[in-house]
Amino acid sequence: MENEGSNLKMPRHIALILDGNGRWAKKRGLPRTAGHKQGCVTLEQIVEDAARLGVGYLTVYGFSTENWKRSAEEVGALMQLFRFYLKRLIKVAADNNVRVKMIGDRTRFDRDIIEGLDRVEEKTKDNTGMTFVIAVNYGGRDDITRAVRRMMEACRENALAAGDVTEDTVASYLDTAGIPDPDLLIRTSGELRLSNYLLWQLAYSEIYITDCLWPDFSKEELLKAVAQYNQRERRFGGV
Ligand code: IPE
Ligand code: IPE
Ligand code: MG
Repeated sequence: MENEGSNLKMPRHIALILDGNGRWAKKRGLPRTAGHKQGCVTLEQIVEDAARLGVGYLTVYGFSTENWKRSAEEVGALMQLFRFYLKRLIKVAADNNVRVKMIGDRTRFDRDIIEGLDRVEEKTKDNTGMTFVIAVNYGGRDDITRAVRRMMEACRENALAAGDVTEDTVASYLDTAGIPDPDLLIRTSGELRLSNYLLWQLAYSEIYITDCLWPDFSKEELLKAVAQYNQRERRFGGV
């Protein structure tokens, strides 16, 4: 067992925006899809590293509700990689006692992908180590919109009264129900924005942005982010 992170306090929940696959490929004169392929290899390794370092929850933004705007060719390649990745994930999760959960609107995917998602969630549901949350066809605004819709349906069925709605009620209708809010958000490739990620859930997360392109990300980079997180003073609006 490794212990490089043993002097660091691991965040309970790390949210990750994996960005820069296209730029990584461009730098090498390769097609964007080559960057996505390498990005998958990196992701597999990071899931294993995070699980071994004792991270409780790792939530990774893999495909946003806005990413459908990309060319049919790129979206197709991403879907193909996702299919392949879901199969491999069953083994990675089993080897590392990882529980897998998907957030986002899965209804827009092809049937076999939906089945793949269902399968990996079902096969890993009793694992007791890290929870790996994959955000695909995920958008923070879409998450909140779908939650509002379901809350209104519950109201109509008299299962919920408007006056009883608290922040906890709203949280319980989001895709992340039951998952603690992220302590640390890491974004690779230097962009200073949220790109519609976990808008509600990131309210008090510490933010770490690195210029490292996602395919080049590593356990060392992860530990750098955690080390910086350890220096932060979290006040949550207090003094
Ligand atoms: C992140 O890499 C992966 C996805 C958003 C699917 P990008 O594809 O956004 O890479 P850049 O930002 O163009 O470099
Ligand atoms: C955010 O990256 C979405 C994912 C990493 C899945 P984008 O590359 O889509 O974000 P923008 O377009 O630069 O904001
Ligand atoms: Mg990008």
